[in-house]
Formats: sequence, structure tokens, C-alpha cells
Amino acid sequence: MQSPTSSFFDIDRLRADTPGCRDSLFMNSAGASLMPQPVVKAMLTYLQEETQLGGYEVERVRRNQIDRFYAQTARLLNTQPDHIAYAYSATDATIQALSAIPFRPGDTILTTNQDYVSSQLAFLSMQQRFGIRLHRVNELPNGDLDLTHLEELIRRHRPVLVAITHMPTNSGLVLPAEEVGKLCQHYNVWYLLDAAQSVGQLSLDVTRLGPDFLVATGRKFLRGPRNTGFLYVSDRVLSAGLSPLFIDRRAASWTSPDSYALQPGARRFEPQEISLLSVGLAEAIAYANQVGIEAISQRNQCLMHRLRTGLRQLDGITLLDRGTHLGNILTFHQARQSLSALETALRRGRVVFTVQYPGSALIDFQRKAVEWVIRLSPHYFNTPDEIDGVIDCIARSLA
Ligand SMILES: Cc1ncc(COP(=O)(O)O)c(C=O)c1O
Repeated sequence: MQSPTSSFFDIDRLRADTPGCRDSLFMNSAGASLMPQPVVKAMLTYLQEETQLGGYEVERVRRNQIDRFYAQTARLLNTQPDHIAYAYSATDATIQALSAIPFRPGDTILTTNQDYVSSQLAFLSMQQRFGIRLHRVNELPNGDLDLTHLEELIRRHRPVLVAITHMPTNSGLVLPAEEVGKLCQHYNVWYLLDAAQSVGQLSLDVTRLGPDFLVATGRKFLRGPRNTGFLYVSDRVLSAGLSPLFIDRRAASWTSPDSYALQPGARRFEPQEISLLSVGLAEAIAYANQVGIEAISQRNQCLMHRLRTGLRQLDGITLLDRGTHLGNILTFHQARQSLSALETALRRGRVVFTVQYPGSALIDFQRKAVEWVIRLSPHYFNTPDEIDGVIDCIARSLA
């Protein structure tokens, strides 16, 4: 396997930074990945200082380290730091974004069949409480998003918001975020892109993708701690003066008993309470920038090709991911043995994976007519030998 083009891409060093991969065949970066040692160390040091000085004093002393988060995230997305807000999770960022859009009863949201469950629940709740209309864009027979249908729906319903998930939680499909962005710009529709699964594995250049809101989580392919995320907002959002409905104290100043002044940039979307987790997230994003997203994507493509090809050759396995562009999630089903027998075999083989059920992606599961899927999500720190090990383990379990 060729070494990707990044001077930092020394696989032995990257694996030395990832001790967890010595003890398992770790295939769960789509769930919660393995944090590199610099991330863990940054948080441990910060926590240790908090025990000596208390959280507020450490926050004051460590201001520069905390603020590094904005510069590193801006670099990751090819934007400026004042477009970035810290969030507790991708869902938290989504809720902040949704609350900022001045919806009125009868307004339309367009989404897809692949949008993340928490977003679907938020839209349904808005439908029930505020009379928001919800339409979902069709897919083409090969699983790709039907962009012609999206444009038809935009013209017919004049939606206020188009919300898509770049890569769903339960399949490797990569949605055409850039093309969707162009349509949203053309028809002047707010565009929310959920990049929780794509951040850290695909390049997310917001000047090309064109989202108004991009939400991401820290713990998956970015390899940060749990309970972290971020929100990017566009110039359009800032110049329209959009702000969240419920404003935390750091997001605005209380200027008189009856008025407040919002932070000028994206920080108007931020919570006030920060901790060692934000330092861990900043470190994880800096690490991803240093390794290089291009190098990461290149290696990931080779690993996924190996995994898909190997599993496709096994009798009795059905690969379920559909679409022209596939990323680092592979899902499969098999009917030869029970789920619990398969789980036991995988765990015995030290494979770390997840099982996904219909509740995580109801529409997709109904289409695929399965009750569960096994999700494997390797990342660049995995090796071709580990991929072969997983394939062997599954093959043996079927024998
Ligand atoms: C596509 C997608 N969006 C959003 C989320 C939610 O992320 P968080 O738990 O940080 O809110 C997930 C989590 O699995 C996801 O897969």
C-alpha cells in the first residue's frame, strides 16, 4: 500500500500515538474513534491544572490554548475563525442553527431520507408544534440523491431550509453536498449540512460546499473527545443577523435591562461553559490538520477498497451501501447465522464494531428490508493487515 503524500504521515508514529489499535481490530471510528495521545495528554494536563487552580483560573491562563480551536477549525474548513462556534455535539449545533432561522407556520424544510435521526426528530417536532412542512428528496435507483427532484421541490415549495447529511450514520454513501450548495445559493435557500460523519475523513472546504450552517461532532473521524462539536456559519448568516433563540451569556452582552448586543461573529451561537473537552477537540483538529485531510482520504480509500472487495467475495454476505461515492462506513447483513452468533465471533476476533438497528435510520432500513446491520468504519491508522484480519474473522464465522 502506497504511503499518502504528507510528511507527517508516518504510519508507525501515528499508530504509536494510538495505543488502542494494538489490542483490537478497531473498526468504529463512525461511532467514537480512538483519540491520539496528544489529545489525551492535553486534556489530562488541563484537568490536572484545574485541580490546582480551579476551572475559571485555568480558563484565564489557558485562553490562548482554548482559542486555538477557532484557528484550527477554520483551517480545516478553509474559512476564518470568526465563522466558527464551539458546540457540545453536532445535535447541539443543529438545534442552535434551527433556532436561528425565523421559521413561520407553513414554511417548508426539505430534507433527505438519509438525514440523521435527531434531525428528523427535530423536523417532526417543528412540524407538530409550528406547522412546518417537511418534504424529503428522492433517491436515484443507484442510491444517489436525485438532484433533479431536489430542484423540483425547491421550485414547487420555495423552502426556507434545505438540510442534508453529508454521510449518513448507517451507510457509506457520500451525498453531493457541493451540488446541493449550488442549488441553495441559486434559489436563495438556507442550507444546513450535517458533516458529523464526514469531518476528519473528507475535505470540507466551505468555499466549495457553500453551506450556511455546517455542524460536526468531535468524537468520530476527527478523533476528539465525546461531548464536543462545532458549528460553522456563513457570511450570509452573520450579515442577516441570525442568532439562536436562546442565547447563552458568552454569546451576547446584556447592555441594558431590556437590550443585549450579540457577539459579532459565530460565537453568538456558543455555550458559556467550556472545559478540558474543548482543549481536547482543538488538539484533535490540529492533529487532523497536521496529518492532512488529503493524505487521510487517500489512505482511507485504499483501506475501504480492500475491505469492500474482500467482503464482497464472501458467500452469504450482503453489502448494503449504495451510491456512486462511498466513504469510510461499510454496512453488511447476512442471513446464515443469528446476529448474536456473528457478534460473538467478531468480538472473539477482537473486532470493535457496531450493530445498527432501524431506529437509527428508519427509512433506509425499511428500504433495505433488514432488521440490523453490522457497521465497520476503519480509519487511516488501521492497516491493510487489520482489514484482512476482519475479513478472515467474518469468513471463519460463516464457515
Ligand atoms: C450523520 C450524523 N449526524 C449527527 C450525529 C450526532 O452527533 P452528536 O452525537 O455529536 O450530536 C451523528 C452521530 O452518530 C451522525 O452519525
